[in-house]
Amino acid sequence: MKFWVDIQRRRLRRGKIPEHVAVIMDGNGTWAARRGLPRSAGHARGADALRRTLTEAAALGVKYLTVYAFSTENWKRPPEEINYLLNLFMEYLRKETTELVRNKITVRFLGGLERFAPELQELMRKAEVETRNPRPLVTINIMLNYGGRDELVRAANQVLKSGREVTEAALPDYLFTAGLPDPDLLIRTSGQLRLSNFLLWQSAYTEFWFTPQCWPDFSGRSFRQAVRSFQRRQRRRGGVSA
Ligand code: FPP
Repeated sequence: MKFWVDIQRRRLRRGKIPEHVAVIMDGNGTWAARRGLPRSAGHARGADALRRTLTEAAALGVKYLTVYAFSTENWKRPPEEINYLLNLFMEYLRKETTELVRNKITVRFLGGLERFAPELQELMRKAEVETRNPRPLVTINIMLNYGGRDELVRAANQVLKSGREVTEAALPDYLFTAGLPDPDLLIRTSGQLRLSNFLLWQSAYTEFWFTPQCWPDFSGRSFRQAVRSFQRRQRRRGGVSA
């Protein structure tokens, strides 16, 4: 098994590896409902899937992994579910930081973080500081209280406040993702074929890959399939093929 995984990884690494992969981790609730489990069980298994994805991204040489962990719309969920998710994030940070540092993985939290409890904000800052590395293997951006429209409105206002004109060159400097390359590949699980307010500006030329698998079932193999599909695409960005 390990042997085949190594072969597949080596084969993929000979082709073009997406520098930046974005993921909409959808289907935790559906996964749980199908098994007669509470939605929280799906989220807990979702955290395991994130670990696997990060491992695979590192093995393939993906530089940035950006995951949609909590959207501006997710506040509409029942308070118990929101609490469960926020506790899961905190637990994840407490447990995983050492392991992340050991594996040269830098964590960043992007989104309207001011809306979270000071205790959680403090943990996020701490994890960012502790995992900071001048040459990280992978940078994982965890998007929290993130919405693409909210991000664009904030950015446009900040450009104006700075006295600049809103242009295609100026706006990205004020997005949460300032300084990051745009995603090359976006993965969405659970068979839903939409963007759901994720990275609206940044995904203008991103390749999309969808799978019916629910997020807790997502594996290293699924990630490799997505990268393989990416390698077969011709990216023209409005031009013509070379
Ligand atoms: C979507 O499933 C998932 C979320 C809203 C939360 C994502 C959180 C995790 C994957 C947990 C791990 C993350 C970190 C950062 C530790 P859904 O609840 O929308 O599923 P449904 O569409 O089937 O209802």
